[in-house]
Amino acid sequence: MAKPTIVEAFERAGQGHVFAFFDQLAPAAQKQLLADAAEIDLQEIDHLTRTLLAKDATTGLNLDGLAPAPYERLPEKGGDAKTWTAAKTAGEAALRVGRVAAFTVAGGQGTRLGYDGPKGTFPVTPIRKKTLFQVFAEKIRAVGVRYGKPLPWFIMTSHANHAATESFFAEHAFFGLDRGHVHFFRQGRMPAVDLQGKILLEDKGVIAMSPDGHGGSLRALDRSGALDLMDKAGIDILSYFQVDNPLVRGIDPAFIGWHVLRGSEMSSKMVPKAYAGEKVGHFCAQNGQAIVIEYSDLPKSYQEEIDPAIGALRYIAGSIAIHIFDTKFIRRMAVGGEGVALPFHRADKKIPTIDAAGNAVKPDKPNGVKFEMFVFDALPFAKNPVIIETRREDDFSPVKNADGLDSPRTCADDQLRQFTRWLKANGAAVPADTIGLPPFAIEVSPLFGYDEDSFADAWKKLSPKPEIKAGLYLQP
Ligand code: UTP
Repeated sequence: MAKPTIVEAFERAGQGHVFAFFDQLAPAAQKQLLADAAEIDLQEIDHLTRTLLAKDATTGLNLDGLAPAPYERLPEKGGDAKTWTAAKTAGEAALRVGRVAAFTVAGGQGTRLGYDGPKGTFPVTPIRKKTLFQVFAEKIRAVGVRYGKPLPWFIMTSHANHAATESFFAEHAFFGLDRGHVHFFRQGRMPAVDLQGKILLEDKGVIAMSPDGHGGSLRALDRSGALDLMDKAGIDILSYFQVDNPLVRGIDPAFIGWHVLRGSEMSSKMVPKAYAGEKVGHFCAQNGQAIVIEYSDLPKSYQEEIDPAIGALRYIAGSIAIHIFDTKFIRRMAVGGEGVALPFHRADKKIPTIDAAGNAVKPDKPNGVKFEMFVFDALPFAKNPVIIETRREDDFSPVKNADGLDSPRTCADDQLRQFTRWLKANGAAVPADTIGLPPFAIEVSPLFGYDEDSFADAWKKLSPKPEIKAGLYLQP
């Protein structure tokens, strides 16, 4: 049989070893290997190897002229209350005319949580144990009802979890959403390479591939046809959030309004860092552009620097991975061009592989590199970016780890605190300790109230008011 052209291309690129065991494979496995290989952009891998793997490679981070990024403060922190009100009105108007869609990135591997299954299927609420996907679905449903326009929901999956994610929604009747409004698409993959840039095999016929990072969402939105669907539906505002954060106000009128009023192509939410070394990205400004610098890249002295004028951290603005994109901007980033592309970052990992004889190798130290793009790297390319402040307790409590910080436990507590705050703000007497936690579990369905305003409206209408006690579940 003649050698497939793709094999020749790999040989020319110095990656011929990927097909070293080709002749030993069954026809179906050969076909699969050829298909996987066809996903790989050999020029891109060559470029990444030369730039990111070279001995003298640096993070490319230049700190010249770095300053904290300006952001819009909350009214209670000195921001202009009138502009916040105008923003909310503008955001509500955009929702009423159907310009907005929700977007969840759910293609991650969720290694730290160590849960077997798509992370969105992980149960998180205090009483009903609703899954992350159910919480988002109910919030999106409720927003659609409030503004009289159902919102489309785009969900980015990975090759590994796509089928399981789709079946989960089908098994749960899409949590009451119109299934025509829920769109799943897979993100791209990148091969892992060894420290010399050779593509790693996981098995004789299997290339070690992994998702290309949440930044891969921009090109996946384009390639999958999601942007075309949005164009047809008159949607130009995409509200981006992560699958691991059930507290997020995924659709926030004031945030949408800031984005619209400023003619922004990409908007972001910040919270003041809880402490100097908090492991979040830092919103910075450089050469007139907004950028996010990961905590691992920003020198400690910057992370800890105090601004004497205010007696607080100078680089205070932490990124919590909540953004709004203009859909035309996504298209521009996805298509790319001279100097317009998200950079890749390298992550050194222990990657199970095989040796030249085909024997399994389980490394005990990093033996290879994965390449990932980060969505916040789009920020410097955006025109008129806006960064607004939000209260952490209203927007951010991710489930990242099995225990400790950012775990199911801390997230359930943060939900309990939120339900307690909403009840108290509306005159209900809820016992709570000094850190805002009630002595028992209660739960509010997003269909009853998904933010302060919707909760207040629903609570007002509720008659008689229920007794606040263990197990209280508020639903419509
Ligand atoms: P994380 O950075 O927390 O990564 O993703 P992760 O893969 O979920 O978890 P660990 O690091 O293996 O424990 C933040 C968000 O970005 C999404 C995740 O699904 C999550 O919503 N993500 C991450 C993607 O959609 N694709 C990726 O390639 C990476």
